[in-house]
Amino acid sequence: MDKEYKDYLDSLLHWGEKLKNTIQTSTLKDDEKWQAILQVEQWQEKIQALLMDDQNESNHQRFVDLRNEGEQLISDFRKSNNESIPYGKHKLPPLPYGYNALEPYISEQIMRLHHTKHHQSYVDGLNKAERALYLEKKEPLKHWLREQAFHGSGHYLHTIFWYNMTPNSLKKPSGEILKQLEEDFGSWNSFKKLFTSVANSVEGDGWAVLYWSPRNGKLAIQSFEKHQLFQVPDTIPLLVLDVWEHAYYLQHKNDKAAYIDNWWNVVNWDNVNQRFNEARKLKWKLF
Ligand SMILES: [Fe+2]
Repeated sequence: MDKEYKDYLDSLLHWGEKLKNTIQTSTLKDDEKWQAILQVEQWQEKIQALLMDDQNESNHQRFVDLRNEGEQLISDFRKSNNESIPYGKHKLPPLPYGYNALEPYISEQIMRLHHTKHHQSYVDGLNKAERALYLEKKEPLKHWLREQAFHGSGHYLHTIFWYNMTPNSLKKPSGEILKQLEEDFGSWNSFKKLFTSVANSVEGDGWAVLYWSPRNGKLAIQSFEKHQLFQVPDTIPLLVLDVWEHAYYLQHKNDKAAYIDNWWNVVNWDNVNQRFNEARKLKWKLF
């Protein structure tokens, strides 16, 4: 195993130790602490196993998976500890795979530019708007509200978008989301057809979005204009497709339909299922 990878795995182990100390001194209840520490230890055991495996070829995806798992543990701990992001302190989330991992469906060049430049600018714009609105009390108010809506929607939608994709796509849904798609749209194919048509129908910049509506207990599909227009409040996006030109122009020029067809090959249905299962925990009175 390369020294570089060994050092990286050692640093993940060290990171796990720090996380366990943080959990230990947190305000979580004892049984929650025990559960959280157990999860970190199970993750550390996987790293140890990889370190012990002398035959192992350096496998970038396994390292990325372990890093992602570690970040998920931190995120879960922060949620259960009621942590929050202060105004103006949003960060660009790391991609849960390499920049070239979605090739040939989405090129490395696009992924790198899209993530490091476009998404970063939404994070920066949201931070600026939040500082102006909540900390510096800047005027004109309407300008900063517009900025918050545009950049905030851009940041949150792109974050969903990255996790909605994977190089190891099963190419079709299964589990609870499949059942609900069949119940609401008749079949997976009729959902796919409608979602594709919605994505193709977007004029200019926007998104196609599958969302869960706790208010009527149904899935629905909507196109968003830019990031923030045409949205339906009180709903939870499960699967989003960025159809801004910056998402495909370098690879497909103006052939948006080809980009959309390719994208179906990288949908992370496990992630859509996870989002669906979390979204359904929110119970509103039905109307
Ligand atoms: Fe985008």
